[in-house]
Amino acid sequence: MNSPIIDIQGLHKYYAMDGIQVHALRGIDLVVNEEDFLAIMGPSGSGKSTLMNILGCLDIPDEGSYRLNGNDITQMDSDALAMIRNREIGFVFQSFNLLSRTSAIENVETPLIYAGVNRKERQQRAAEILQRMGLGDRLHHLPNQLSGGQQQRVAIARALITSPTLLLADEPTGNMDTATSQEIINILCQLNEEQGLTILLITHEAEIAARAQRSLILRDGKLEEQ
Ligand SMILES: Nc1ncnc2c1ncn2[C@@H]1O[C@H](COP(=O)(O)OP(=O)(O)O)[C@@H](O)[C@H]1O
Ligand SMILES: [Mg+2]
Repeated sequence: MNSPIIDIQGLHKYYAMDGIQVHALRGIDLVVNEEDFLAIMGPSGSGKSTLMNILGCLDIPDEGSYRLNGNDITQMDSDALAMIRNREIGFVFQSFNLLSRTSAIENVETPLIYAGVNRKERQQRAAEILQRMGLGDRLHHLPNQLSGGQQQRVAIARALITSPTLLLADEPTGNMDTATSQEIINILCQLNEEQGLTILLITHEAEIAARAQRSLILRDGKLEEQ
């Protein structure tokens, strides 16, 4: 049995604001194994973004442990965290975060520039993954020439181009109509089922969470079973 992708024990996070301390995460234990698809729901202010930032190695906890693929994140400096982030994690956001004056294929190529992959191979890999996302005929479109669902598919392609071990999706279907939400959640389910991609998704929508293998609720900084 491989070690879990995510192994979090007794995790706490505090913020100090105008001399007042906010206890944003209050003792989180979470294990996510390879090929899991986990959804986390929770009301506004419950700590979802705080947890996502730590999971994505954008921030470190104040107490407790976080092992990502066996590596102890709490012992790393910001350079080491940046490297882990590039290598191990793909991010998908509600607002896509695509470069607006840049074509679909160039958006998807971008992470490979940082990884030092040459231009020809970048273009080949980006075209391939966009084809798999059903966007083979949209390679040279700009984001504003694509529908919301198509833009999110470009963002998913960009997240996956470096073959990360973990996909973190923060409200990826927020602000979408039902049909487009279905299109995106279908792709995530397919990536999990067919390619064994490990996915952790935050969502406000119960119908979306129901498509994951399991779902948890974050309430006042603590994780609860559904
Ligand atoms: N940078 C910050 N400074 C101070 N307090 C913060 C900061 N970020 C979040 N908080 C507080 O931490 C709690 C959890 O926030 P957050 O993780 O953003 O929740 P959610 O994403 O579920 O809405 C809230 O009480 C919020 O006000
Ligand atoms: Mg939030």
